[in-house]
Amino acid sequence: MIPESPLLSRLGAPVSAITAYDYPTARLADEAGIQLILVGDSLGMVVAGLPDTTGVTLAQMAYHTEMVSRAVKSAVVVADLPYRTYNTPGETVRNARSLIDAGADAVKLEGGLDQIEKVEALSAAGIPLMGHLGMLPQRVREEGGYKKKGRSREEADEIVEAARALERAGAFALVLESVMPTVAERVTAAVGIPTIGIGSGENCSGQIRVFHDVVGAYPWFVPPFAKTYANVAGEMRKGLEAYARELR
Ligand code: KIV
Repeated sequence: MIPESPLLSRLGAPVSAITAYDYPTARLADEAGIQLILVGDSLGMVVAGLPDTTGVTLAQMAYHTEMVSRAVKSAVVVADLPYRTYNTPGETVRNARSLIDAGADAVKLEGGLDQIEKVEALSAAGIPLMGHLGMLPQRVREEGGYKKKGRSREEADEIVEAARALERAGAFALVLESVMPTVAERVTAAVGIPTIGIGSGENCSGQIRVFHDVVGAYPWFVPPFAKTYANVAGEMRKGLEAYARELR
């Protein structure tokens, strides 16, 4: 039996989680009482303007993890291992360690049964791991788009089995992205660690969102499931236009 991760004592029920990529956004999220901050490789899209997350590098993730961890006093900081930086157990541990050295409390990697050996290697090295099941953004090119997961009985069973295996391998929490809500509910009942949903319905142990979606900072694309609570881009536009007008 895997001992319970000490990180869990820093998470409440329900778990509130959000992405952040720099000092001010991380500090604001931490001060707002968000329990888990993910330095997500979604920064490739919402910060760097890339078409997907596959162009993000380990050096970029370490740089942003440093900024975020400098700001955070209470939240658990998790950093994404980017695309193709965890091909083998040895590489996974080496690269995860560089994100921990940059200030992360834990790392996240995408995938299920295919990743168990790597998760076991992380556990053996004492590096906490958050899993990521369902729609895997790093596989968007292989899969030809972003697709809801768990529609068929077979796919649903596979997600539940992968969740159990990740928990056994030592994962302290699981992100469930774009999973059918009934499947998210099944996973949540099947594991003893928190499930943190995005686009997966309400029956998870908590929710995670992308910072830019929550505050309305990236108006050019908002995912259909996103709820926006502020209009930061609109306020920035107003300020910038007023400044430009005044100078004219
Ligand atoms: O990179 C990211 O922002 C993520 C979240 C969508 C969970 O993985």
